[in-house]
Amino acid sequence: MTTNTAPPRRRTALLRGVLPVLGLAALLAGCEEPVTESQQTGYRGTGMVQINNVDVLALQAVANAVPEAQPPAEAYADEPRASQAYENVQVLGDLSEGEFLRIMTAITEWVAPDEGCTYCHTENLASDDIYTKVVARRMIQMTRAINTDWTAHVQQTGVTCYTCHRGHPVPLQTWSENPGPRTAGGMSAHRNGQNGANPATGLSSLPYDPFSALLRQPDDIRVVSKVALPLRGEGIGATIQETEKTYGLMIHMSEALGVNCTFCHNSRSFTAWDQSSPQRSIAWYGIRMVDAINTDYIDPLKPVFPATRLGPLGDPKKVNCATCHNGASKPLLGASMLQDYEQSLGAQAAVTPAAMPVPPATAPADAAPAAEPAAAPAATPETAPAAPAPAAPAPAAPAPAAPAPAAPATETPPAASEPPATQPGAN
Ligand code: HEC
Ligand code: HEC
Ligand code: HEC
Ligand code: HEC
Repeated sequence: MTTNTAPPRRRTALLRGVLPVLGLAALLAGCEEPVTESQQTGYRGTGMVQINNVDVLALQAVANAVPEAQPPAEAYADEPRASQAYENVQVLGDLSEGEFLRIMTAITEWVAPDEGCTYCHTENLASDDIYTKVVARRMIQMTRAINTDWTAHVQQTGVTCYTCHRGHPVPLQTWSENPGPRTAGGMSAHRNGQNGANPATGLSSLPYDPFSALLRQPDDIRVVSKVALPLRGEGIGATIQETEKTYGLMIHMSEALGVNCTFCHNSRSFTAWDQSSPQRSIAWYGIRMVDAINTDYIDPLKPVFPATRLGPLGDPKKVNCATCHNGASKPLLGASMLQDYEQSLGAQAAVTPAAMPVPPATAPADAAPAAEPAAAPAATPETAPAAPAPAAPAPAAPAPAAPAPAAPATETPPAASEPPATQPGAN
C-alpha cells in the first residue's frame, strides 16, 4: 500500500503538466542575461559602439592586475655605476649599483619568477654562458627602443618586460610562420594555407598565417580599390587571397584588443581615414612598431635560441598585437609600470648607435597626428585620406602624415568623455 492516493493516470497527467514547466524554469534560471555596458566611439547611427559584458570586464580587471613595484633603491653619495661595480654590463652601465640590482629583481619577477636569478645566471654572474641572458640583454634594448621611438603608439604609458611576459619566460601570445596542418600527399586537396579553423584568425576559414605577409609588409594591408570597376594594372591591387589575409589580420587585431571592427572603422567605408576613429591611427603606428620589433630585435636572435624555442619552420616566436594587448584595448588596462622603471627601461636620450637600430623611417618623428588625434586640423574629407601613403616608394617619406584622423570639420565624432547620448533628436 502506498501513501499516495492519487490514481496512477492522474499522477502521469500531473507529471506531464508540471515537469515541462519546472524544466523550463530550471533552464531559464541557468541562463544569465548579461549585464552590458556600451561606449559610443563614433556618430550615432553608424554602429560605432563597443558593447561589453560587465562580468567579462571584471575578469579582465583581475587578469590585468599589475604587480607591485620594487621599493626604490637607496641612493648614497659616490655610489658606483653598474659599469664600475661589475664586469660585464653592456647596456645598463649608467645605472647606480642599487638601481641595477633593483631592475634585476624586477626582471626576475616579470620573466622568471619560478626559476629566479639562475634562469639567466650561473655562479659567475658576469658570464654570458646561458642564452637567456643574451636574449634578456637584447630585450632590454628592445624595450628601451619601444619606449623611445614608438611613443606615437605606446604614449607615455610605455611598456616593461611584464607587458609581454606576465610571469612567463616565453610570452603566451606569439606567432611564428605557420604552414598549417600537414595534408595527405598525392591527389588529395591542398589547402593552400587556409580553410581550417585557426585561433589566430578567430576560427574562421581565412589564411592561417596573415602575419608573415602583412605584419612584415604593412603596405600590403590596404586592399580597397580606389577606382570603380578596376582592371588589372589600374589599381586593382589585391587579389582575393591577399584580401582574405587582410581580413584575417583584422580579426586578429580585434580579438587581441577585445574590440570589434567599429572600434577603428566606420563600416560604411573601411578605407576612409576621415571616417575612422583616432584609434585606427594609433593602430597604424602599432602595425609598423610590431614590424620594427620583429625585424630589428627578434629575428636577429634566431641563432641564439635553442631549437626548442623556434617555430615549425625554424623562425623565432615573434610579437603581434596580442603579445602586449592580451585582450585589452590598452595593455594592462592602461596602467603604466614604466613610470617606476624610467631609468632602466624608459626613453633614452642618447642610445649607443652601435647597439641600436636606425629609427624606423616611416615612424614617429611626426607622431603629432596620432598623439593628438582630436586636435587634428579638419581637412576636407576627400583630401584627408592622403594618409598612410600606401606602398610609398620612398620609405623616407613621412608617410604617417596620412593617418591624420582628420575629423570632418562639420561633424566631430563625440569624444569618449562626452556622452553622445545627450545629443538631441538622435534616433
Ligand atoms: C631574465 C634574465 C635575468 C635574470 C632573471 C637576472 N638577470 Fe642579472 N643580468 C641579466 C643581464 C642581461 C645582465 C647584463 C646587463 C647588461 O649587459 O647591461 C645581467 C647582469 C647582472 C649582474 C652583473 C654581473 C657582472 O659582473 O657583469 C649582476 C650582479 C646580476 N645580473 C644580478 C642578478 C640577480 C641578483 C638576479 C636575481 C635577483 C638576476 N641578476 C636575475 C639578466 C638577468
Ligand atoms: C614586446 C614584447 C616583449 C617585451 C616587452 C619583452 N619581451 Fe622578452 N620575449 C618576447 C618574445 C616574443 C619572446 C620569445 C622568443 C622565442 O621564444 O622565440 C621573448 C623571450 C625572452 C626570453 C627567452 C626566454 C626563454 O626561455 O627562451 C627572455 C630571457 C626574455 N624574453 C627577457 C625579457 C626581458 C628581461 C624583458 C624586459 C627588459 C623582455 N623580455 C621584454 C617578447 C617580449
Ligand atoms: C585596432 C584598430 C582596427 C580594428 C579593430 C580593425 N581594423 Fe581594419 N584597419 C585598421 C588599420 C590601421 C588599417 C590600415 C592598415 C595599414 O594601412 O597599414 C585597416 C585596414 C582595413 C582594411 C583595408 C582598407 C583599405 O584601404 O584597403 C579593411 C578591409 C579592414 N581594415 C577591415 C576590418 C574589419 C572587417 C575589421 C573587424 C574584423 C577591422 N578592420 C578591425 C585598423 C583596425
Ligand atoms: C609593445 C607592446 C604593444 C604592441 C605589440 C601593440 N601595442 Fe597597441 N598599445 C600599447 C600600449 C602600451 C598602449 C596604450 C597607450 C596609452 O596609454 O594610450 C596601446 C594602445 C593601443 C591602441 C589605443 C587603444 C585605446 O583604447 O585608445 C590601439 C588601437 C592599439 N594599441 C592597437 C594595436 C594594434 C592593432 C597592434 C598590433 C598591430 C598593437 N596595438 C600592438 C602597446 C602595444
